[in-house]
Amino acid sequence: MSEEERRVPGHVAIIMDGNGRWAKRRGLPRNMGHARGAQVVEQILEDADDLGIRVLTVYAFSTENWTRPQSEVTALMNLLNRYLRSSVGKCMKNNVRVRIIGDRTKLSDELVESIRNMEETTAGNTGILFQIAINYGGRDEIVRAVRAVAEDVRSGVLKPEEITEEAIAAHTDTAGEPDPDLLIRTCGDERISNFLLWQSAYTELYFTDVAWPDFTREELEKAIDAYNGRDRRFGGLKEK
Ligand code: IPE
Ligand code: IPE
Ligand code: MG
Repeated sequence: MSEEERRVPGHVAIIMDGNGRWAKRRGLPRNMGHARGAQVVEQILEDADDLGIRVLTVYAFSTENWTRPQSEVTALMNLLNRYLRSSVGKCMKNNVRVRIIGDRTKLSDELVESIRNMEETTAGNTGILFQIAINYGGRDEIVRAVRAVAEDVRSGVLKPEEITEEAIAAHTDTAGEPDPDLLIRTCGDERISNFLLWQSAYTELYFTDVAWPDFTREELEKAIDAYNGRDRRFGGLKEK
């Protein structure tokens, strides 16, 4: 499909799966797969920006990933911290705004500080929005949103009958941003694994066998081409 005829989804979300399997196939430790995966996401951010995507949301660490061996959890947290520290300059240069979604109360002080620094430094950028999900779970996010709504009711800011979809959405981690148009999951499994449950009500899903460390701009373009073949009805009737 040529660049002119391709409709580019405004918001693309990615479940970057398969780092461990990629490493295992090569006889490498799982953490080598994560390191390689971190390089790939930096490249895909540039490609997404170049293709005209406005929001890129990636799943980096789920609320369930804490159940992995401590050494792997530590390696992932270190990788995230290093990325946030080392890429501020590049994000400024490329006009990228970074936002972290998920519950940061369980993250280390050091990581929380790296997040704060990255978000504050890039807050005024007007290019692509890069959302990274860290200690993120869709159900956890809904629970936190409902709690915040309940607080508003208790304090009298909101009446129970004023609890609408908009009121709940306003308390999600992605408040103010559009829902994903396209969700990509790599490495073969076809499930959501607790990602963006609220936001993906009408998202187009795309699954590929390619493991995340092997994901390229060409694979992203393939996903966008598949998206272009979809007929989004949102519960309505097919357009003539
Ligand atoms: C995705 O790769 C990265 C995270 C979940 C943090 P995995 O680590 O899940 O890789 P596989 O699925 O075991 O191959
Ligand atoms: C989803 O992948 C989480 C991330 C990519 C961060 P998992 O590898 O944790 O998901 P399951 O366990 O296969 O469902
Ligand atoms: Mg996995």
